[in-house]
Amino acid sequence: MAKEVKITKLDHFGRGIYFDDNKINFVFNALPAEHVIVENIKENSKYNESKVKKYVITSPKRVEPFCPYYGICGGCHLQHMTYEDTLDFKKQKVAEIFQKFNLPNSNIEIIANPNVYNYRNKIEIKVREKKVGFYELNSHKIVEINECKVAKSPLNELILSISKLGLNNADITLRTNLNDEILIWIKTKEDIIVTRESFDKNSKIASIILNDKLIFGEKHLIFNFDKYLFKCSYDAFFQINFDVCLKIYEYLKSQVKENDIVADLYCGVGFLGILASDKAEKTYGIEIVDNAISDAITNSKINKIDNMYFMLGDVAQSFQKIKEQISFLIVDPPRKGLDKETIDTIIQNKIPKIFYMSCDPITLARDLAILKNYYEIKEVKIFDMFSWTYHVETICILEFKGNI
Ligand SMILES: C[S@@+](CC[C@H](N)C(=O)[O-])C[C@H]1O[C@@H](n2cnc3c(N)ncnc32)[C@H](O)[C@@H]1O
Repeated sequence: MAKEVKITKLDHFGRGIYFDDNKINFVFNALPAEHVIVENIKENSKYNESKVKKYVITSPKRVEPFCPYYGICGGCHLQHMTYEDTLDFKKQKVAEIFQKFNLPNSNIEIIANPNVYNYRNKIEIKVREKKVGFYELNSHKIVEINECKVAKSPLNELILSISKLGLNNADITLRTNLNDEILIWIKTKEDIIVTRESFDKNSKIASIILNDKLIFGEKHLIFNFDKYLFKCSYDAFFQINFDVCLKIYEYLKSQVKENDIVADLYCGVGFLGILASDKAEKTYGIEIVDNAISDAITNSKINKIDNMYFMLGDVAQSFQKIKEQISFLIVDPPRKGLDKETIDTIIQNKIPKIFYMSCDPITLARDLAILKNYYEIKEVKIFDMFSWTYHVETICILEFKGNI
C-alpha cells in the first residue's frame, strides 16, 4: 500500500531511510528531508525496501541524474546528488563505520576524482537472452545500454559491436589503456566464431580472448601510467581509475623512505610495489594469481626495477616466509580484508609502518580494531576511485606504538 513518509537520513548504500512502527525502511533515490510517497518492494523481518512512487517535497540538494539509465541500472547509486554531496556522503559513511568499531574518525580526508565522467578503464558487460547491458539495481535482470557515462569512451564505442556478435548468454570484460587500446575477454559456453572483423575496424583492439583462448593480439594489455608501463593479463587485477591512482601514487611516494624495506601484500601485477620500490631500498611482492605474479616479474623488468622480489602464494602463509625485517608494509587486500595469520605476522614482526589500502571500509575497520592495540592510526584518506557509486577506497597510515 502506498503511503507518504519523510526521509530522515542516508544509509551506507546512499538510500534514504525512514522508520515505520520502529522498522527501518530503505528507499533508493530519496534524500534526507524529502517527503515521498512510497510502496514496499521487499519485506524482511528486520527491514523493508521501498520505492518512490511520487516526490511530494523534494530536497533543494536534489539534482538531475546525468545518465538516462540511472535508477534502473545497478552501476551508480548517487547521481541524484551533487558531486560535492557524494563526497560528504562517503566521508560520513567511513566516519560512521569507524565510530562503530571505536576507531578515531575526526580527521578523515576525502580526495576528489579529477575527472568524474568517463573515468572507468574497465567494464563488465552482461549478455542474457540476447540482451546486452548491465545488471539492474539489486537484480540479475538486464538493462540494455548504448553507453555508460562513467566508462572511458573507447569502451562505449564497442558496446554496439557486442550486440552484433549474436550471443545469447555471456560475460564480457572490456578494458582500455591511455592509448585507447582495448582488451576484450568473452566468457561464454556458446559455440561462437569471433574474429577481429567482428568489431568496429576503427577501434584500437589489442586483444580478443574467448574464454581462455587467444583469438587476436596478445593475452594482455599494457597500461601506461606516469613514467611506468604495466603488463596486465586478461585475468589479472588492475586499478580502474588512472587519475585517482596518480593521486594515490603521490601519496605513497610521500610515505615511503629511501632506506625502506617494503613488502607489498596482494600485489597484483606489482602496481603499488613497483611504484614504492622505485624509491625504497628493496621490495617484496606477494600475490596468489599465477598470471598476475608473472606480469609483476615482467613489470619490474620493463620498468628497470632491480630491487623487487616476488612470491606466488597465499599471503597468509607466504608473508611469514620473509625473514628480513620489513620497515614499510603495503596491504591492498580483496574485500574480505586481512586474515588472522597475516595480522598475527604483522604484529609479531612489529612492522613500523603500514599503508593499508582497502575497498571495503567494514573489513578495514574490523582489521584496524585489532591493529589499533599495537598501532597508532596516523592518517585516514578516502580516494574517490568509484565516483557516483557508494563504494570507497580508503587508505590508512599506521605506525607501530611500541619500542621497535
Ligand atoms: C585489490 S587487488 C590489489 C592489487 C594491487 N595492489 C594493485 O594495486 O593492482 C587484490 C589482489 O589480491 C590478490 N589476492 C586475493 N587473495 C589473495 C591471497 N590470499 N593471497 C595473495 N593474494 C591474494 C588478488 O588476486 C588481487 O590481485
